[in-house]
Amino acid sequence: MDRKNEILRELVRAGDYVSGQELCRKLGVSRTAVWKCISRLREEGYVIEAVTNRGYRLRESGGGSLDRRSLEGALDTLWAGHPLIYKEETGSTNEDIFRLAEQGAGEGTLVVTGRQKAGRGRRGRTWISPPDGNVYMSILLRPGIRADQAPMITLVMALAVWEAAREIRPAPGREVSFGIKWPNDIVASADGGPWKKVCGILTEMRLEETDIRDIVVGIGLNVNQRTFSEEISGTASSFSLAAGRSLDRSLLTAAVWKRFEKNYALFLEAGSLAPLKEAYEKALVNKGRTCRVLDPQAPFTGTALGINDRGELIVAPEEGGAPVSVGSGEISVRGAEGYI
Ligand code: BTN
Repeated sequence: MDRKNEILRELVRAGDYVSGQELCRKLGVSRTAVWKCISRLREEGYVIEAVTNRGYRLRESGGGSLDRRSLEGALDTLWAGHPLIYKEETGSTNEDIFRLAEQGAGEGTLVVTGRQKAGRGRRGRTWISPPDGNVYMSILLRPGIRADQAPMITLVMALAVWEAAREIRPAPGREVSFGIKWPNDIVASADGGPWKKVCGILTEMRLEETDIRDIVVGIGLNVNQRTFSEEISGTASSFSLAAGRSLDRSLLTAAVWKRFEKNYALFLEAGSLAPLKEAYEKALVNKGRTCRVLDPQAPFTGTALGINDRGELIVAPEEGGAPVSVGSGEISVRGAEGYI
């Protein structure tokens, strides 16, 4: 990463003033070099304030800037997001990645946008993608695993988003908790209020015979969205509504990929979710709660106990009998009296 981007990353990370002296120390360069980088960043359109005795501060744009430069400045990964393709607007980032994969794109290719016109959700639903406050992104993966192991990647991704969410500093006096609703919805609860979905993940794959050709993991982060239609306002929210302040979209995006890289490596090494199970269960809001398993053949009610190494939800039926492992494929789970 060049010096200018390193400075940008320090400013984005700090979210506040950073002294010139600290920047010199962190980067091992002179004050003049720091000043030159700041000037170049300003020429590129960044608004950077300089105050005597306090240092430099990057002023956030209203929507928590999302553009190629901010993303590149914030991204601190080895392969996830390299290359990074930023689009002002697109149909569906999952579709973009499939197209790029056909053209020979490599693992780690990431498409990010703030405006999606034909967002896809799970189970053939539409992912409503209002412009300019959120992040819609997809990554290309080519893991050497069997097709039946692929659904676990969705849980790996959910854990990464949850870990990134936990780093969010809420507004003073605000209490916010984040969790995962099995298998891969990220939910938030503010000031003890109900859990609401703030992020959805859609994993799609293309096979060659029985082998995986491409896997696309698409993530819709409701970051700074402030209003939701009446239809979904009971169950949907955004990270910023939960935290009580607006958030930097590039920074949150970068935090997600940093954590994903780490979790994905652990998953691939083990060939299962075994090394991530404990962390995932810590996040799992269904755990210990009554849930309704919407199996089209045999729906039932029970208590969610946790997950197994394959990421299946283990549910103890209320009618008694041995716990049942529920796979995420065709079955969804609801709370006994509502969303969770
Ligand atoms: C869900 O239904 O919960 C999953 C929603 C996934 C939405 C994301 S937005 C980025 C990517 N592109 C798409 O078309 N869908 C996914």
